[in-house]
Amino acid sequence: MTPVSRVSPVHDRIAIVGGGIIGLAVGWRLAQAGRSVDLFEKERVGQGATRAAGGMLAASAEAEPGEHALTALNRQSQALWPDFARELVATSGIDIGMRQDGILNVALTGDDLRRLRAEFGHQQRHGLPTRWLSAAELREREPCLNPGASGAIHSPGDHQVENRLAAEALRVAFTQAGGRIHEGAAVERVLVENGAVRGLHVAGTEHEAGTVLLAAGAWSGGIEGLPEAARPPVRPVKGQMLSVRMATEEPLLRHVVWAPGVYLIPRLDGRLLVGATVEERGFDTRITAGGLLSLLHSAWRALPGIEELPVEETWVGFRPGSRDDAPILGPGPVRGLVYATGHHRNGILLTPITADLVSRFILTGVVEPALRSFGVGRFVRRAA
Ligand code: GLY
Repeated sequence: MTPVSRVSPVHDRIAIVGGGIIGLAVGWRLAQAGRSVDLFEKERVGQGATRAAGGMLAASAEAEPGEHALTALNRQSQALWPDFARELVATSGIDIGMRQDGILNVALTGDDLRRLRAEFGHQQRHGLPTRWLSAAELREREPCLNPGASGAIHSPGDHQVENRLAAEALRVAFTQAGGRIHEGAAVERVLVENGAVRGLHVAGTEHEAGTVLLAAGAWSGGIEGLPEAARPPVRPVKGQMLSVRMATEEPLLRHVVWAPGVYLIPRLDGRLLVGATVEERGFDTRITAGGLLSLLHSAWRALPGIEELPVEETWVGFRPGSRDDAPILGPGPVRGLVYATGHHRNGILLTPITADLVSRFILTGVVEPALRSFGVGRFVRRAA
């Protein structure tokens, strides 16, 4: 990619705030490059949105009209995933459960069918690699779906990974490369002096660093010490999910399926993930009857056989939502403070491209073109 602008090179020690998949992946790239990297996580790494996610790499199925820059970034990252996964598995020795069966977005009613046809038209106009499946073609692929299902969009390039294993693999890869993980280490404040970071205050002690990477997911907006203009507008977007157990020898589903009100993600180990609510309730960790009811009702409409399956786990996660649903990446108004947050619904998908672009910025000071639409500066109100 052609560099377009150069800012002051950053050097010395690097401190990462947040041990989700994004912080770990950027940290891995930086440690591989020989930099001194300390990662601070308030609990244990990989236990926030990274653990709660479904692991869909859904650049086509989740593409929204009007989000062209985000869709382009999502597609770039999707293309990086197979090599990223190979490198991660080879380095860590951990299989991260990548499945390449694609996603089916299924219509159950006439209304759904018209909506899906419109969505398919949008995808085709924007060159997304999707195809239309008739009811018969759909049944052939997924015979256990509701027999009334009348058609579907197939996104064959929308793969999935087991995000919990990917985080575990990244923990191993990061530490093998020389990165240091500090768990149970809540960052109390970012230390800023004369418009530049000089480190972090963690558990009563100062940790000096020339670069601070803010990768604290939904908690990124609440980190103390940043001037107002440098505070990323990120809020928690609550998602409730659950999983049931399928018979591994005869799984009810093979593809990830989106149906009205729900998505269903079959894992290789026989779990079927059912997600997810989208709720504006701050950091409310409660699993609610209404949340589970709506997920299970929608799942049962799409896949009646789910009725017989034992429920294994329920959980809540917090998507880091920015004001325009796109991530916040790269430099901002405080020298040495770098952002990798606000990934909202696409954190797992955007991990490889975030790791590449953000680590290259930290290593070289170069803001590559792909980063330019995603700076925190886009949220700063301009004078009229
Ligand atoms: N990308 C799926 C979700 O946010 O629920």
